[in-house]
Amino acid sequence: MLLANQLSKQYRTAHGDYLTVLDHVSFELAPGDTFSIVGPSGSGKTTLLGLCAGLDRASSGTIELNGVKLDDLSEDERAAVRNRYVGFVFQNFQLIPTLTALENVMVPLELRNEPNAEAIARQWLEKVGLGARLDHYPTQLSGGEQQRVCIARAFSTSPKILFADEPTGNLDAENAAGIVDLIFDLNRTAGTTLVLVTHDLDLARRTQRILKLKGGKVEELIAA
Ligand SMILES: Nc1ncnc2c1ncn2[C@@H]1O[C@H](COP(=O)(O)OP(=O)(O)OP(=O)(O)O)[C@@H](O)[C@H]1O
Ligand SMILES: [Mg+2]
Repeated sequence: MLLANQLSKQYRTAHGDYLTVLDHVSFELAPGDTFSIVGPSGSGKTTLLGLCAGLDRASSGTIELNGVKLDDLSEDERAAVRNRYVGFVFQNFQLIPTLTALENVMVPLELRNEPNAEAIARQWLEKVGLGARLDHYPTQLSGGEQQRVCIARAFSTSPKILFADEPTGNLDAENAAGIVDLIFDLNRTAGTTLVLVTHDLDLARRTQRILKLKGGKVEELIAA
């Protein structure tokens, strides 16, 4: 399902030299696997997730998603692969500010020419407990509510693989537990492969394997 091979990412600093934020990271996921990435702030977790989901390009190394080598693709081709196979829950939400909650969830469905986009979007917003907030704009929603809109948006297209960056980071215990149950339900019922970034070790332990990152390197890869 996902083959990450020797992924490295460098950024050029203002001084013209290079900062390595990911250093030769490799792992492999079969369809239906559950996987979590943990590590201190700044260790490269979000960067790694972005490379795996085809949102960003590696400086070196290769990535294969659902049998497609992402490195060979143009920007548009990668966007098409993402829309078809990938769900992504961003750490900073990335909702479109001029669209309501309902319209935000409808975006990826409409991109797929889904005729029942509105009904499906409503269903998912109800499942995450936002049935009474459909017409609210992102600025009219709390942080936790925005996060749940993101989760509804990511789930609505029934992705083959779900990447979630701190999916429960802004939620209280009760809402977090509900969202975690939904994520694992999706894995059990639809076979969705899960890749979670989390600071919550209890959540990480619910996945089959845990990758510990430190300073951009794999510190440990453990079976949970
Ligand atoms: N566009 C960029 N240009 C330069 N440096 C960057 C850029 N994006 C990220 N970095 C640096 O890369 C490192 C890893 O960032 P990343 O966001 O992957 O960390 P993280 O493990 O997700 O941290 P957190 O737990 O705080 O979310 C950080 O030191 C960050 O400053
Ligand atoms: Mg991060």
